[in-house]
Amino acid sequence: MMNTKLSTVIVVGTPTEKPRRQPWGFSQALRLTAFLALILVVVYNVFQFSPVRQRLTWPSPSTEKKTPALELHIISKCPNAMHALTELVLPTIERVHDKVDFKLSIIAREISEDGSVQCLHGPSECEGSTFELCTQEQLYPDSETLVGFVECLTADYHQIPAREHYEACASNHTVDLAPIDRCMARDGGAYGHNLLVESVQHSKDVSVRISGTIRLNEQIYCIRDGPNWTNCPNGPGVDELVDAIEKLHDAASCYDGQVNLAAGYVADVSSKLGLGQ
Ligand SMILES: *[C@@H]1O[C@H](CO)[C@@H](O)[C@H](O)[C@H]1NC(C)=O
Ligand SMILES: *[C@@H]1O[C@H](CO)[C@@H](O)[C@H](O)[C@H]1NC(C)=O
Repeated sequence: MMNTKLSTVIVVGTPTEKPRRQPWGFSQALRLTAFLALILVVVYNVFQFSPVRQRLTWPSPSTEKKTPALELHIISKCPNAMHALTELVLPTIERVHDKVDFKLSIIAREISEDGSVQCLHGPSECEGSTFELCTQEQLYPDSETLVGFVECLTADYHQIPAREHYEACASNHTVDLAPIDRCMARDGGAYGHNLLVESVQHSKDVSVRISGTIRLNEQIYCIRDGPNWTNCPNGPGVDELVDAIEKLHDAASCYDGQVNLAAGYVADVSSKLGLGQ
């Protein structure tokens, strides 16, 4: 419109001359450039928000758990804990400690309003549980030593929290007690107490109340309840748990590979289109 008007004005202004081609050619080039720019913007935005791109980059590798999580919830001075550790968790961890992220969590009766914890077998159990949590913090991520040491403590759980018992197990599993003692003494005991409160609260939050509950990737895998194993769709066998962990571990590595491939593909296409990332 404006170009036509401009041309008209020019024609009117210079009636004796032929309409000049230059302004018309210039504005044509301008329109072509604007049109190309528009196409680029449209293509870029379509690409940016297209479902293809979302499928290729979603979910991002960082939001995926790479290592499967194995968790054992225990009451420290309790035979269920001993059976769960000796028969299933320790032999499993010995085989796949490098393929699983292990966590020990504590179960207690309640956390009072004043912040104190009531353990089923009294204050000596709370002390033993705090000691185990301090051990976990000091040894992480060496789950093989942690589980070996805690299994040793629990195999003779009546002796928890006797110092000689800790020392015998520590020497059998090459555990340095000094940093664990420091954790227990830190802030006059408040630090260790806080570890206990957090762990007990966590067990409550995930509704685990039976000592000897084993969870794999946050799902109940098996429970040692009294003399029996219950809630064990795969059975209480070590081979089956090792197998389940290895499958999750391998699936996680394949999945990450695919996501990385896809992300690489997107980056490659983007750079070829000169879109940058
Ligand atoms: C330490 O290991 C020795 C030799 O294997 C064993 O006899 C002893 O019972 C173990 N001690 C504890 C506390 O497990
Ligand atoms: C344990 O299992 C046995 C056999 O399956 C059953 O007879 C018994 O009642 C169970 N005990 C408990 C405490 O669940």
